[in-house]
Amino acid sequence: MKDLFDKLRDNRGPIGMHAKESHGYFTFPKLEGEISSRMVFRGKERLVWSLNNYLGLANHPEVRKADTEAAEKFGFAAPMGARMMSGNSNYHEQLEAGLSELVKKEDTILCNFGYQATVSAIDCLVDRHDVIVYDAESHACILDGVRLHMGKRFVYPHNDMASLEKQLERATKMVNETGGAILVITEGVFGMSGNQGKLKEVVELKKKFTFRLFVDDAHGCGTMGPTGGGTGEEQGCQDGIDIYFGTFAKSFALIGGFISSTENIVEYLRYNMRSQIFAKSLPLPLVVGAIKRLELIRAHPEFRENLWKITKALQNGLKNNGFDIGTTSSPVTPVYLSGSIPEATNLILDLRENYDLFCSMVVYPVIPKGQIILRLIPTAIHTIEDVNYTIDCFSKIKDKLMTGKYMSEKIAAF
Ligand SMILES: Cc1ncc(COP(=O)(O)O)c(C=O)c1O
Repeated sequence: MKDLFDKLRDNRGPIGMHAKESHGYFTFPKLEGEISSRMVFRGKERLVWSLNNYLGLANHPEVRKADTEAAEKFGFAAPMGARMMSGNSNYHEQLEAGLSELVKKEDTILCNFGYQATVSAIDCLVDRHDVIVYDAESHACILDGVRLHMGKRFVYPHNDMASLEKQLERATKMVNETGGAILVITEGVFGMSGNQGKLKEVVELKKKFTFRLFVDDAHGCGTMGPTGGGTGEEQGCQDGIDIYFGTFAKSFALIGGFISSTENIVEYLRYNMRSQIFAKSLPLPLVVGAIKRLELIRAHPEFRENLWKITKALQNGLKNNGFDIGTTSSPVTPVYLSGSIPEATNLILDLRENYDLFCSMVVYPVIPKGQIILRLIPTAIHTIEDVNYTIDCFSKIKDKLMTGKYMSEKIAAF
């Protein structure tokens, strides 16, 4: 018999197996200084394209002031206890009302973390008689929610509507036997490819099938739609989303999340969602800070306009310079390249050390062997000069990659 710790010492997991050579540089890098498009990495200022600070709110003076004043006034302990028992406040309810207006739903429940909100809401909404049908490229929090589900689940290939329809036929047959119901889960914006979920087409399927639709709009909330109401607003089908999830971790530049739906469903979640009933409520400085961010998002459409100006300049510039950015239709900008893992690490090292440009890299085992994705996140506080500089750097590193300059048996040392 094996000792658990011995087993874990030998099996570090697909990313953890590279911890020794990557920790502190490729993984767990430390970006220091005020959050902006320029931050300090290993003692030197770099142009940063890896933060989901889409609207540039993280360091907005009004946000910083509101955060500081709220921390001073309330401290981080308040309120104590779970919302249901002793942790409720007028501020929590005010924020919920404001978020409901933003995403055009009747009511909203705040949650301490986005990830936990999705896992727990899925767990709470379905029982063993119900069937979940979900997109294959769903975020880990959706997959974990689905893992908790005691009934059947059917997956369809990413955004494949014909397959979704087939799975809905199967699911319908099944729930007719079990007496259960169907929940379809997808995302507004898929965080790796930048693709939008085909929400309008999914909603259209409601004419043919009976199901409810849960949308994780972590990347779409605040960035998509004429008022920042999200990807459903962008596609003109917000009403067809039955359960809307948003996070504060991206456009809001904070922490926490929320679920919006009908009054009836939100009340059900308030009284049944285990992660909220059995956990301490969101601290007041975070709630008051979120109220300030929401106010700014609503009052300043120019933040979103600037985000899109930078996004379009970056994406068009990359395409015009021969880069493959896939099928993104959101600010998320993946750049697809081919090469080995040592080539990818040498390339990132070159970008960071010689061009002072910091972006994220994705390689095997997250994506197939031989592929490299450089993932750029434009924000409202980047400039057109940043975009032009980046495209120039990318053209140079692509030439080096294609002429074999990054080839090396050994992973780059740093
Ligand atoms: C699509 C998606 N859903 C959910 C989450 C989890 O949200 P949070 O960071 O607020 O826990 C993330 C990542 O932040 C995400 O990208």
